[in-house]
Amino acid sequence: MSSFGGKVALITGGAGGIGAATANMLAKRGATVIATDINTTPGTVLQSDIEYMQLDVSSESQWQQVVASIAQRHGRLDVLVNAAGIEGKVTAGGLETTSLEDWRRVMHINLDGTFLGCREVMPVMKQQGSGSIVNISSLASYYPTLYSVAYGASKGAVTQLTKSVALAGSQGAKVRCNSVHPGVIATQMIANIARQLQETADVVSTSSIQRYASSIPLGQAGTPDDAAALIVFLASDEAGYITGSEFMVDGGSHLLR
Ligand SMILES: NC(=O)c1ccc[n+]([C@@H]2O[C@H](COP(=O)([O-])OP(=O)(O)OC[C@H]3O[C@@H](n4cnc5c(N)ncnc54)[C@H](O)[C@@H]3O)[C@@H](O)[C@H]2O)c1
Repeated sequence: MSSFGGKVALITGGAGGIGAATANMLAKRGATVIATDINTTPGTVLQSDIEYMQLDVSSESQWQQVVASIAQRHGRLDVLVNAAGIEGKVTAGGLETTSLEDWRRVMHINLDGTFLGCREVMPVMKQQGSGSIVNISSLASYYPTLYSVAYGASKGAVTQLTKSVALAGSQGAKVRCNSVHPGVIATQMIANIARQLQETADVVSTSSIQRYASSIPLGQAGTPDDAAALIVFLASDEAGYITGSEFMVDGGSHLLR
């Protein structure tokens, strides 16, 4: 795979599972990586050569500050990976017990956060003539999410948004935008969902994550690096003719849906 030498990459949700794995992989391939997350410090998951900035993706003003700071200090921005996300509440009652507050919280982070990121980096990437945005959607964007309706809806919207961003980026420049759709990747988010499933009623516990993982055609949940490998490919020049497309990384789970 081609080197990312001379390229600058911004990762959201960079202190957690898939985002951190992507940040580390891009840095190993030579990119200057700015990992961001909601907390003030990243913990210990990131390589020492990665720069860390605090960014709550639902904050318009923080996005503007972070992108301006990167453009000013590094002079360019080649890659944006929108990996920040939350699972929201998993409720046995599903639709009927999802509060408007829960719905808005999930939409605000998963969808508004992705929209803001795409919008803020676009002028920088267009001015330099190229760039790659990778939005982390989900397999959940394709199927009903009975017990977490907001999550599935937010990821469906991210998938659709990706196509508008891809077309916008192709006008006068080669800014690409694609969506990645993980199945079950072993991260904190999956641990959170598993805990919530255990706390809900019988109807939900019968579809536990463990049971689901055991039915994955390739036999196990994926690792953050499994997802990062696809994201890094889409961010690379080798994917230069790919835009507005959807890519699953799910061990074949969609085959059994
Ligand atoms: N793990 C999976 O199986 C799976 C499946 C499908 C999609 N995804 C998606 O992959 C992405 C990464 O998730 P993950 O599995 O690595 O989970 P994770 O919980 O390990 O990481 C998510 C990161 O997002 C950060 N975050 C949450 N709210 C934020 C905010 N407002 N601003 C900035 N950062 C915020 C968290 O602090 C965390 O570091 C998410 O968008 C998730 O929806 C994951």
